[in-house]
Amino acid sequence: MRPSYRIAPSILSADFARLGEEVRAVIAAGADWIHFDVMDNHYVPNLTIGPMVAQALKPHCVRADGTPVPLDVHLMVQPVDALAQAFAKAGADIVTFHPDASTHVDRTLQLIRDAGCRAGLVFNPAAPLDVLEWVIDKVDVVLLMSVNPGFGGQSFIDSALRKCERVRRLIEASGRDIRLEVDGGIKADNIRRVADAGADTFVAGSAIFGQRDYKAVIDSMRAALAG
Ligand code: DX5
Ligand code: ZN
Repeated sequence: MRPSYRIAPSILSADFARLGEEVRAVIAAGADWIHFDVMDNHYVPNLTIGPMVAQALKPHCVRADGTPVPLDVHLMVQPVDALAQAFAKAGADIVTFHPDASTHVDRTLQLIRDAGCRAGLVFNPAAPLDVLEWVIDKVDVVLLMSVNPGFGGQSFIDSALRKCERVRRLIEASGRDIRLEVDGGIKADNIRRVADAGADTFVAGSAIFGQRDYKAVIDSMRAALAG
């Protein structure tokens, strides 16, 4: 059965001076999730946006017919817990974090879920997957980094494909409904390879926001996935 694919544009590459407008435009162009990158200049060498911006964007995360579009918050911060809770309060639907940034991963997953969000773990290109074995019952999303986190516009790291295949097997074995999301360097010309490796959710920042016509890019991604 063909998985139901999700395209999650990363607003990291949007025009920060017009974020609400950019979110509405990319939703009108066919975005399934809005990917929101949070960087703290500590866990990663860059600084972006916080819970107040998430709260301001939340009312824009909706389709013309009123259907809400999930706000997918990717935390690249250390420590994690207080900010995870602040983003849940600000309207995040999904909160993912890097397990190496949390002292007590199981507790962090639980507090995200207790706050009413889907919870996810993010694995850097060189990070082992060991922790997944012990907490997979509390995970709703696995996010694999196919670049080193911190910046948009980097090239896809191929070892993410092998890791993706491995995570797909772990998800199948768990029997749980877990999204497998890949983040970094995804474009219309490689998205199909990422899907073939087992991913069902695709983050794309520069590929979408770097072009004038967001719909044309998202359509070409969907065509590649359908082909
Ligand atoms: C990188 C971020 C990504 C980034 C991807 O640390 O987590 O979400 O926006 O950007 P592209 O698609 O340009 O690689
Ligand atoms: Zn991200």
